[in-house]
Amino acid sequence: MDLHVTLTGRGDLGGQIYRQIKSAVLDGRLTPGQPLPPSRELARRLAVSRNTVTGGYDRLVAEGLAESRVGAGIFVRAAAPDPHRRAAGIAQVTAVRPAPLWADITVPAPDFFTYAPPYDLRPGIPDVRLFPYEAWRRLTSQAYRATSIGSGMPIDPAGLPELRAAIARHIGVSRAVRVTAEDIIITQGIQQALDMVGRVLLRPGDCVAIENPCYPLVRELFRSLGAEVVGVDVDPEGMRVDLLPDRARIVYVTPSHQFPLGMPMSLGRRQDLLEWARDRDVVVIEDDYDTEFRYGGRPLQPLHSLDSAGRVIYVGTFSKVMLPVLRVGFLVAPAPLLTALRAAKYVTDWHSPQPVQVALLGFIEEGLLAKHIRRMRREYQIRHDRIVELLTTRFTDTLTVIPSAVGLHVSAWAGPDVDVDAVVTRAHAVGVGLIPLSRFRMTDGPDGLIVGYGAIATAEVDRALDLLHASIEESRTAARPSRDIHA
Ligand SMILES: Cc1ncc(COP(=O)(O)O)c(C=O)c1O
Repeated sequence: MDLHVTLTGRGDLGGQIYRQIKSAVLDGRLTPGQPLPPSRELARRLAVSRNTVTGGYDRLVAEGLAESRVGAGIFVRAAAPDPHRRAAGIAQVTAVRPAPLWADITVPAPDFFTYAPPYDLRPGIPDVRLFPYEAWRRLTSQAYRATSIGSGMPIDPAGLPELRAAIARHIGVSRAVRVTAEDIIITQGIQQALDMVGRVLLRPGDCVAIENPCYPLVRELFRSLGAEVVGVDVDPEGMRVDLLPDRARIVYVTPSHQFPLGMPMSLGRRQDLLEWARDRDVVVIEDDYDTEFRYGGRPLQPLHSLDSAGRVIYVGTFSKVMLPVLRVGFLVAPAPLLTALRAAKYVTDWHSPQPVQVALLGFIEEGLLAKHIRRMRREYQIRHDRIVELLTTRFTDTLTVIPSAVGLHVSAWAGPDVDVDAVVTRAHAVGVGLIPLSRFRMTDGPDGLIVGYGAIATAEVDRALDLLHASIEESRTAARPSRDIHA
């Protein structure tokens, strides 16, 4: 056993050994029956005489904390725990507490992201089965070689300049966001982009307005930065600008594809929001997480392009168009914020992994990203169209689809006699993974279902919706008799 003993100074070395082992026995780190290291070995490791160690061991034996077995060595004995020592130990541990706001910020179970129900209708998960792994493996293995020590490749916390230029071109073409490499900072996903923005703009207690309902990690993140987070209701045109609190310093929105409801923010609402922000000196974060996948309709201009006052920070991610586990995203910020944001990246994270950036650059430059997006868009469109068709024909009594033509999910309001939680439980029991809309609300309100189609294979869509249909009908039937009894 590699027992950890630290000796300080020169005085009472045997006593130090005795006290440290005693405390390990009393607080349970050493358990009865465990052998102590042979005295000769411990003496050698600690560079003390063997007598020093045996002196310490003798005191343990004398106190009944260890016993000597002839020919076998010294072993820990079951000791009556010393209540005083234990209490002191616990008191020490319990005195160390996180700041109160961390008490209700929770992390999902480790299998949350890797668990795959047989029919996976959870939102926000792309189809990782169709990713071009071979090409990515080739690019990453080249990238690791190219970035190893001695490669001479400079490291910028803002990210690889060539990658930032490639992203500027990519969003210029796909989203009409006109920027240069200098306006972009590479981040570990949108999540880190929001963290950096919060650090740079917020003082404790400042107000951040987010959409209600909203992606919960956004709420948790700003709360963890000490902000007051206010949920502002959305209507079919997007966030209700008339409900925004005047004290807000940041407004976070998902205008291209409201998460989780799915509709775009109307042009009028976009203009109202920008005007509101300009009048109050507020920063607007535009989260454009999945609009590379569009299946119809004309995209509205991003807030970033409509903004003439330099108020909008645009954030994007490769989690949906490539793989969520990559943890690569980016932000586009107004010039006056860039130096501080680059410093925020540096102090929290130094820089995003260089090999991943180099591989991603290759992926974009070889045309593989564009090709993968084209392929996935075709695939997702089949799923999107089929799901909308089924929801609007077979679920007419129970669900009302919220029109949406982009991304990886479509949502639907539940009718008054649908108990969404019961449906989700039943669906889970037959292998359908689903998340209710209520999970994303900050206040009570109408419930519904989010139907994600990134993770489910195209060939499984019909079966999954059959099972969902049956789960809804069974839960309605199950609810009926009890209602009759109360009537
Ligand atoms: C609205 C929204 N923003 C951001 C993200 C996460 O982005 P990232 O993986 O880049 O942190 C998600 C993930 O599901 C999302 O739904």
